[in-house]
Amino acid sequence: MSTHAERLSFQAGDLLQAVPPARDRDDLYLLSAILHSLDDENCIRVLDNLARAAGDSSARVALLEIVVPAHKDDLASAAFDMQIFLGTPGKERTLAQWQDLFAQSAWRLEELIDLPAIGKILVLA
Ligand SMILES: C[S@@+](CC[C@H](N)C(=O)[O-])C[C@H]1O[C@@H](n2cnc3c(N)ncnc32)[C@H](O)[C@@H]1O
Repeated sequence: MSTHAERLSFQAGDLLQAVPPARDRDDLYLLSAILHSLDDENCIRVLDNLARAAGDSSARVALLEIVVPAHKDDLASAAFDMQIFLGTPGKERTLAQWQDLFAQSAWRLEELIDLPAIGKILVLA
């Protein structure tokens, strides 16, 4: 039986250009804190590239990102949002804002996983 580490591979590249093709439904693209640094238009471009690369494999996507509470008075996510605002065209997003992006792509939110630290994993299928 293979370990998790043996089944993990890291791929350099520009997600706005292309994503390596998935092999089968056991593949999962993990994007850690990437989309928060992109504006909505480029997020959709990346989601489209992921959908193209997944093809009909049923591979999924996991986004490790902050989900800003709807009431927006959470100090930690506000601090991250300010940092992202100053350094990138992106932003930290509420669940409604994430869902709005997914609705403009081929992906749907399958699962939202809480983490003990800041951030969540948004699993897309
Ligand atoms: C906040 S850092 C996260 C770094 C790391 N993934 C982590 O979780 O610690 C944002 C990362 O997004 C990457 N990034 C931004 N646009 C990208 C693109 N078009 N294709 C691939 N990576 C991109 C940057 O290179 C940067 O490493």
